[in-house]
Amino acid sequence: MSVPEVYAVDPNSQSKLNVLIVTSDPSVLKTATQALAEREYTVITVPNGSDALDVLKQRAVDIMLSDIDLPGMPGVTVAKTASRMFPDLSVVLMTDGSGTEAARSAVGCGASDYVSKPLDTPHLLLVLERNLERRKVDAGQLYRERSQVLFSAIKALAAAIDAKSFYTATHSSRVTTLCLAAGSVLGLSSADMATLELAAQIHDIGNIGTPDEVLDKPGTLTDVEWVDILRHPDVGSSILSHVPGLTQVSSIVRHHHERYDGGGYPDGLSGDAIPLLSRVVAVADAYEAMTSERPYRHAKSHVDAIKELRANARTQFDPIILECFIAAVDDIEAGNKAA
Ligand SMILES: [Fe+2]
Repeated sequence: MSVPEVYAVDPNSQSKLNVLIVTSDPSVLKTATQALAEREYTVITVPNGSDALDVLKQRAVDIMLSDIDLPGMPGVTVAKTASRMFPDLSVVLMTDGSGTEAARSAVGCGASDYVSKPLDTPHLLLVLERNLERRKVDAGQLYRERSQVLFSAIKALAAAIDAKSFYTATHSSRVTTLCLAAGSVLGLSSADMATLELAAQIHDIGNIGTPDEVLDKPGTLTDVEWVDILRHPDVGSSILSHVPGLTQVSSIVRHHHERYDGGGYPDGLSGDAIPLLSRVVAVADAYEAMTSERPYRHAKSHVDAIKELRANARTQFDPIILECFIAAVDDIEAGNKAA
């Protein structure tokens, strides 16, 4: 499953690459900076390992090109320390003949690669580009893994919130399935489908602030209890707004109880002013709720639920999204009957 690209710095972003050169040798410095200037890297230079580690703590560096022979801390130690502190950093050592064995043995345990001095510009650029490419691939893998872990954690949180109530134990996962079916009929892009999946999974995350006895109450809710219920889109979007990269998901969650005619909550948006994916969640949410048992009423049949949805087209629901949803859910029903 794809996940929204929201959880980490995108490794495919086109920002200029930062190269940190660590050397106290003026001729090495001159050759390396001239070579890198040709490729529009941002070059930072320091004369020793201690200064290099300070720079790494203060700013993002994509690759460190370090002399093996440095005043103070040896280049191999700098490479090992830097890679331990910043596992995503590529470190290329520069060595003369006497340090080649040390550089070779440092590769894999701190350094990513090494080049021989005197520096040969085409070879240096080739090595740097090879290592940057490798770093990009590794970063992409890490990015996907982190995204997947975070998505799983969010799903687990949504399931925990649904589990607050016996009656909503599988609500979010069913709404998600229905949303994705509708999204596919609507022809949403894969990015929108991924966002929709996440938003549907956590659309009721704001119920974390709703007392269990209100969620499971069999009778009519009091005014105070209604206030608790009506707050959940606002509470949910506020929680998510603190997560960098979840702005769109937060907005979808906020508006999943808006009505097409403007009579919904929390902001009374109408028509196309309601985020499209919120309009999808709204229909799926209503259908799932209608076809599920609740403490205060029995589940409706598929046919009766569709009838009720259509009765609310243009008032509660976006009519186009509603028809796409019905086409999708009719397919699911037909598949269930055939099974
Ligand atoms: Fe809701």
